[in-house]
Amino acid sequence: MEKFVVNGGYRLVGEVTVSGAKNAAVAILPATILAQGVCVLENVPNISDVSVLTNILRQLGAAIRVIDKTTLEIDTTNVSSCEVPYEMTRRIRASYYLMGVLLGRFRKASVSLPGGCDLGVRPIDQHIKGFEALSASVNLEHGMVNVEASQLVGSQVYLDVVSVGATMNIMLAAVTAKGMTVIENAAKEPHIVDLANFLNSMGADVMGAGTDVIKIRGVNRLYGTTYSIIPDQIEAGTYMVAAAATGGNVLVKNVIPKHLEPITARLRKTGAFVEEYDDAVRVWRDLKRPQKTNVKTMPHPGFPTDMQPQMTVLLTVAEGTSIVTEGVMDSRFRYVDELRRMGANIQVDGKVAVVEGVKELNGAPVMATDLRAGAALLIAGLVAKGVTEIEGIAYVERGYQDIQRKLISLGADIKKVTLPAEPSLAQAL
Ligand code: EPU
Repeated sequence: MEKFVVNGGYRLVGEVTVSGAKNAAVAILPATILAQGVCVLENVPNISDVSVLTNILRQLGAAIRVIDKTTLEIDTTNVSSCEVPYEMTRRIRASYYLMGVLLGRFRKASVSLPGGCDLGVRPIDQHIKGFEALSASVNLEHGMVNVEASQLVGSQVYLDVVSVGATMNIMLAAVTAKGMTVIENAAKEPHIVDLANFLNSMGADVMGAGTDVIKIRGVNRLYGTTYSIIPDQIEAGTYMVAAAATGGNVLVKNVIPKHLEPITARLRKTGAFVEEYDDAVRVWRDLKRPQKTNVKTMPHPGFPTDMQPQMTVLLTVAEGTSIVTEGVMDSRFRYVDELRRMGANIQVDGKVAVVEGVKELNGAPVMATDLRAGAALLIAGLVAKGVTEIEGIAYVERGYQDIQRKLISLGADIKKVTLPAEPSLAQAL
């Protein structure tokens, strides 16, 4: 196991290039199972969630050639298994997309309930509702979700909650169903549009992605394609907040500024400056303290829940008291205890955090409790006086390509240190 040792207090200055979007990649990779032919995926983020998924695809029979660090050639012709056991799914939540794609290709799937970051209760009832609407039968047995359909038939599905995962999973199953599927109250995140564009480039007929009504006319076959994944909105947002929090000046490159608007708007409220270019944004702040602002996370185009912990860190050193409300996840404030160890003044009541700004944070040993919490603690370490040691960095590496190298190139002082092995129980007794 490893930890990051951050020596804080340096302003981030320079340029950073954003990698491909994790939450698009983790849907598009499984979606290659639907293609009859070879897919070449470009701008694939080099992160551990992607390695986990490529390993799963290989175990199911796919041939994957690494063309370069961010380009993969995937041939799923020989995939024959519809069974994805717990050992494969426990490390990644997005393994639930294998239900939609295997159902689409084989009309049958048996996939273990997913693992991933612990962000409270995360049911998949809306995914199941969608599969059932397409005439599949679904049963849960021994932790496995068994889905089967003699024929997939297009239908109308109204999502009771706006769910990214359910919207994408239903799209994946519906692209080869008979007739038209309409998903109402669909999620609108940029990665939904990216998955739709990818499926359409394989020959699917998906309309309306990016709005709350998506229409999918089923087709008989999907073909191989070459496709470049969009830049990661959350990775970009993380560097934007890090730049603002350290009073730095950073050009964040390879982004789609439109996707960043909710983040840009909140950052401006804190007194940071954001300038937008065609495919980059520059973020800077003068050396005054950030201003308080309230943040409420909401499905896109609201402020993304995946940016909530990072933004909260910025508000811990703001002038005044800010209210942060989590409007998407059941529980996403576990990292607050760690920030308190660094001197932050935050009270949490359910889905609301009251953040009373303090003049400075102080370095401390802390533990990342999930991916975005880990990114937030890194930002806290950059801002804090002294040394912050962050354990649990495997979470961070699930979703941020080369984060240590990218931050060092902006002037951060971050080392990765290997932790001594924990004594076994027998040794400890
Ligand atoms: N929900 C249900 N029933 C369902 C599905 C979702 O009640 O069947 C609820 C969830 O409990 C949650 C809300 O709906 O309260 C939204 O969940 P959603 O399904 O949108 O989340 P997800 O698909 O499980 C994806 C991202 C998350 C991101 C959320 C919200 C992937 C692999 N994960 O999760 O990303 O937080 O959407 O935008 O795409 C991350 O990248 O750090 C991360 C956690």
